Amino acid sequence: MTKVITYGTFDLLHNGHLRLLERAKKLGDYLIVGVTSEEYDKFRGKINVNQSLIERIEAVKATGLADEIIIEWYEGQKIDDIKRFGIDIFTVGSDWQGKFDYLQEFCQVVYLPRTKGISSSQIRTTSNSLKLGIVGSSTTIAKFITESSYVNGVRVAGVCTTNLMNLPDQLKNLDCVTTDYATLVRKVDAVYLASGPADHYQQIKYALNHQKPVLCELPLTLDVKQNQELLALASAKGVVLDFAIKTAYTTAYNRLIFMLKSGIIGKIVHIDATCTTAALTDFGATQPVNQDWNNLCAWGTKAMLPIFQLLGTNYREKKIITWLTDRQQHYDAYTKINFLYRNAEATLKVGHGVKAAGQLMIVGTEGYVYVPEPWWETEYFEVHYANANTKKFFYGLDGEGIRYEILSFVKAIKNKTANTYLDLGTVNAITKVCGDFDAGLDTVELTVK
Ligand code: CTP
Repeated sequence: MTKVITYGTFDLLHNGHLRLLERAKKLGDYLIVGVTSEEYDKFRGKINVNQSLIERIEAVKATGLADEIIIEWYEGQKIDDIKRFGIDIFTVGSDWQGKFDYLQEFCQVVYLPRTKGISSSQIRTTSNSLKLGIVGSSTTIAKFITESSYVNGVRVAGVCTTNLMNLPDQLKNLDCVTTDYATLVRKVDAVYLASGPADHYQQIKYALNHQKPVLCELPLTLDVKQNQELLALASAKGVVLDFAIKTAYTTAYNRLIFMLKSGIIGKIVHIDATCTTAALTDFGATQPVNQDWNNLCAWGTKAMLPIFQLLGTNYREKKIITWLTDRQQHYDAYTKINFLYRNAEATLKVGHGVKAAGQLMIVGTEGYVYVPEPWWETEYFEVHYANANTKKFFYGLDGEGIRYEILSFVKAIKNKTANTYLDLGTVNAITKVCGDFDAGLDTVELTVK
């Protein structure tokens, strides 16, 4: 009996897949199809897959061509499968020509001509076509445009910025570059807001009232009542209002939160989150260029994330200690916040123009977690137990998490699903702290000479 094996993602199964499977089947008597897991696809940079693993397996099964279906979990698995299943022929489409010659050591390798004019990417792009408009400073815009190019079906069509002089070259060919927000909203299907937090409320309201979905950098606004009003408006209009904070979307951070919630270090008693930048291109500590984002809103939102996600939002009290370098604009170079909970406490330290190790430390009754700088875009963390027993975890990250954030937004618009990365409690708690800081509540000011 001749055994054949082939692999693929088989997202939105199409005629190219069918033809490949038919020809693969004819190469022998028994066909095994390896369907890639979500995890493995993410690892090899394929982040856009629309269907779940189960749906893709079901689709391959429904063709009636596979005698057996297996899951491809990891890099290098093909060699193991070929040996284990006693495979005679490995086959894939000619888009992989030469890439799998190394398998000739174990079986015959056949590249079948790829069917022209069709691919999963193409189907995803046509079914998802979304013109996105961005509001913010030039650095944020440039980064966002690069990242959105990794998401099928998303095209940045316009930007709204007050900083028209310093626009990067990549922006010059957009459909619309404007200083007028209403013009941008008219020209695009959805907006991403990286504008100053004080502008968010009006901008979100305007977009929602014009039926345009919004992805907004946290803090959503500086007042929890405004958050609630906007979320109610989004729900009444049936338009997506989603939250951007890149750290929440990275794989390593997500895994860490799930592990900690399932008790890997026992009860959490202390969290220490630090994010600082010695000097910034866009902000700068003592003479901020971008006055719209104070240090607490820019960095503090990220540092609050693990605290609220792990200890909850019902802290008993907080104390804000801050060094304001511009009192009129309420611009802080350094801010520390202590949160006191019934059974735990947490500290965040954030600085622009003040440099400390940007690490995250979480202390529990059975061990501690250490995430090195820059923990907010981490790929790696360590779990330390007694007796010097340490476990190390690594999860690859592409693009600081921004592309996953965009993808989640696109999926939310398409499937009308709620955000699974951030809950409203956390979003509102972040708003409350930023709002209290703005109003000088629970705050002690440092005098630095
Ligand atoms: N294939 C093919 N002809 C096509 C598309 C895919 O023969 N038009 C083959 C691939 O060469 C591979 C298998 O089908 O052997 C599974 O491919 P997969 O990567 O899942 O499909 P694509 O449509 O190429 O997906 P994407 O656009 O996401 O890369």
